[in-house]
Amino acid sequence: MRVLIADDEKNIRRTVADYFALEGIECEEAENGLSAQKSLAEEHFDGLVVDLRMPGMSGLELLDWLQQEGRSIPTIMISAYGEIRDAVAAMKAGAADYVTKPFDPDDLLIRLTRSVEDDRLRRLASLDREAGPELESESSSMRKVLELAGKVAPTDSTVLITGESGTGKEVLARRIHESSTRADSPFVPINIGGIPEQLIESELFGHEKGAFTGADARKRGMIEVASGGTAFLDEIGDMPLHLQVKLLRVLQEHRIQRLGATTSIPVDVRFIAATNADLEARVADGRFREDLFYRLNVIRIKLPPLRERPEDIPLLARHFLSTMRERTGSRVTAISPEAVRALQSYRFPGNVRELENMIERAVILAEESELTAADFDLPEAGGAEGRGRGRPGAASSPRGTLREIERAAIEQALYRNEWRRQQTADELGITRRTLLNKIKDYGLEEDLS
Ligand SMILES: Nc1ncnc2c1ncn2[C@@H]1O[C@H](COP(=O)(O)OP(=O)(O)OP(=O)(O)O)[C@@H](O)[C@H]1O
Ligand SMILES: [Mg+2]
Repeated sequence: MRVLIADDEKNIRRTVADYFALEGIECEEAENGLSAQKSLAEEHFDGLVVDLRMPGMSGLELLDWLQQEGRSIPTIMISAYGEIRDAVAAMKAGAADYVTKPFDPDDLLIRLTRSVEDDRLRRLASLDREAGPELESESSSMRKVLELAGKVAPTDSTVLITGESGTGKEVLARRIHESSTRADSPFVPINIGGIPEQLIESELFGHEKGAFTGADARKRGMIEVASGGTAFLDEIGDMPLHLQVKLLRVLQEHRIQRLGATTSIPVDVRFIAATNADLEARVADGRFREDLFYRLNVIRIKLPPLRERPEDIPLLARHFLSTMRERTGSRVTAISPEAVRALQSYRFPGNVRELENMIERAVILAEESELTAADFDLPEAGGAEGRGRGRPGAASSPRGTLREIERAAIEQALYRNEWRRQQTADELGITRRTLLNKIKDYGLEEDLS
């Protein structure tokens, strides 16, 4: 991070620059508004610390100039005691926050890093940048998934996609199909769990005229419809046992036999199956054939639940904001950083689908162009529902000594932020150094598993 500090008092500049340097923040100093303006015109800064009163060009004038230039840099104003009204004016002119002299450099640092992070979240979740495509991701777990999907896409391998409900299994299956050589042929989703059991067979394999009462014409099955393309077998765990053998034969021989037919016909179909059930457990208790399981499980892709990839929430939110806008013409173009944070600490049992529905609802009900936390129907942060992302030790209402609670809180925050120290410190509202001390003090070790 690079910061410009503009103050006519050398002492203040030095103190701040030295303190920031300890935290790994690079500081450039300017002794008045004009020289700050010059630096800003020539270089990039992630944040700005500006004294309100400076000879020549004041902090407020500097902010005005930035605004005219159409630039927005997270800025903390330094005001003297008794200048509160000016500080308020500074906030109106676009400053993110202010501190009053004499100030604690640590307090300044916290406010600045928070504003820079807010600015980042705001940009990620707003529509002034073009909305990203589906499956754009900032999280390492999801990037691994996409990398694997990219590798298997061009092959004809069977893929088994697992993951909780709403994690995007169908979206991923489509993406694999679209990046394959079969992209110009159909992608046919078949929701096995959604078809009445007695109809599954004819839906999948088709039937001849007269195969059963009511079969008054020959009908092609979904697998045949997918010829040349991809059949997506959704909820494969719901496949009745007696049909599992038949499906296995199709997978092995690439031929299907319509119901009531005496001969089989060749089909050229790639299969992608998905399930949110534990197939291994179903194999163990005899509800799923082991041979079919192995035939499907050639390449397995596990989609992580949304609560394990909160980094993706701003991007997904922006994506849904943009689709909602196309559909409804709504005026909403952004989500406040505070709302993004609230979303990031929610568990999302319904995963991406739940986020999508939440945004839709918020967009429809919103009164302003920026959604705030109040526009989302989220459980109170800190309540039993909103907190606790599973491992390690998800506590609803924490018990124990203060030290134990603090240790658990830090451990969970580290886990949430994938052990990124600065990000974790920002979330906890402490400096990176304080965090490092506490990690050492509590003997917290990165779990590399
Ligand atoms: N990465 C993503 N980018 C954009 N939209 C997504 C993404 N992942 C999921 N969605 C959206 O979330 C919703 C749920 O996704 P999808 O239907 O693929 O989930 P699923 O895992 O198949 O769920 P289920 O197990 O309930 O069938 C869909 O509306 C989908 O468009
Ligand atoms: Mg699905």
